[in-house]
Amino acid sequence: MTADESHFQYHSEELDLAGDSETGNWSIRCIDVHKRLGGVPVLDGLNVAIPDDTITVVLGPSGTGKSVLIKNLIGLMFPDSGDIIVQGESVPSLTMPKLLALRRRIGVLFQDGALFGSMSVYDNVAFPLRQHTDFSEGEIAERVNQRLTDVGLADAVDLPPSQLSGGMRKRAGFARALVMEPDIVIFDEPDSGLDPVRTALLCDLIQEMHGIYGGTYIVVTHNIASARQIGEYIALLWRGRIVEAGDADRMFSSDNPFVRQFLSGSAEGPLTMD
Ligand SMILES: Nc1ncnc2c1ncn2[C@@H]1O[C@H](COP(=O)(O)OP(=O)(O)O)[C@@H](O)[C@H]1O
Ligand SMILES: [Mg+2]
Repeated sequence: MTADESHFQYHSEELDLAGDSETGNWSIRCIDVHKRLGGVPVLDGLNVAIPDDTITVVLGPSGTGKSVLIKNLIGLMFPDSGDIIVQGESVPSLTMPKLLALRRRIGVLFQDGALFGSMSVYDNVAFPLRQHTDFSEGEIAERVNQRLTDVGLADAVDLPPSQLSGGMRKRAGFARALVMEPDIVIFDEPDSGLDPVRTALLCDLIQEMHGIYGGTYIVVTHNIASARQIGEYIALLWRGRIVEAGDADRMFSSDNPFVRQFLSGSAEGPLTMD
């Protein structure tokens, strides 16, 4: 896709990256992040601030850098230039022990659930607690069973991932992402591979868990319906940059033709296919 840059502006409203958002503090700030992969600029001057205690949807088409952004947020990849501040700490400058400590405060639900195939659902969810805490098996059981009940998998604890449906795998991955009581939860295309009804149900579950446990949720997707259903704050990612970000009601009523086209999934507008 290309857009005639005269039709829209990147960040038509100034981002106050240094200060607080209207609703609270910024949990994450990306400041002029550049990342090239295979000689191609994937993140290309990305600026965004993600509010605390809010469900933010980062919406963008396939291949636009969503997964690369997530990897940079959790320090699996580092920017060529620019900075990523998570809870006040600059991720690219953290020492490895501090990076590992930061990652423990972040739960990630990868695209396919990323479950260990040789472990039961229970052991998958227990894994982070066994790795990172000195909880007794009794304490672990209490926490794991609670999370599996939360996501509707209380009856599937003993199953291997191979016997789960796609939706159950995602819910098991979600339970595992929540088990360390993270401050930040990141979802990479939680709706991929699910039919619209299961997508809506998973979005309900994401909202419900956010209502119970709170925290900064970042849902990365190309699915406009999911953004509409659960996004409280929406950032539009296109060609490695955030085109526009803001509260969902403002974004869905935007006058910016680029944002309008993007959020309506319309063929009419400044974006074209080449
Ligand atoms: N490790 C890598 N090496 C080279 N190119 C990569 C790598 N990871 C991603 N890319 C490229 O970066 C672009 C963005 O990828 P990605 O973030 O996975 O997109 P998406 O928005 O679909 O998640 C794609 O063109 C992809 O081919
Ligand atoms: Mg991706």
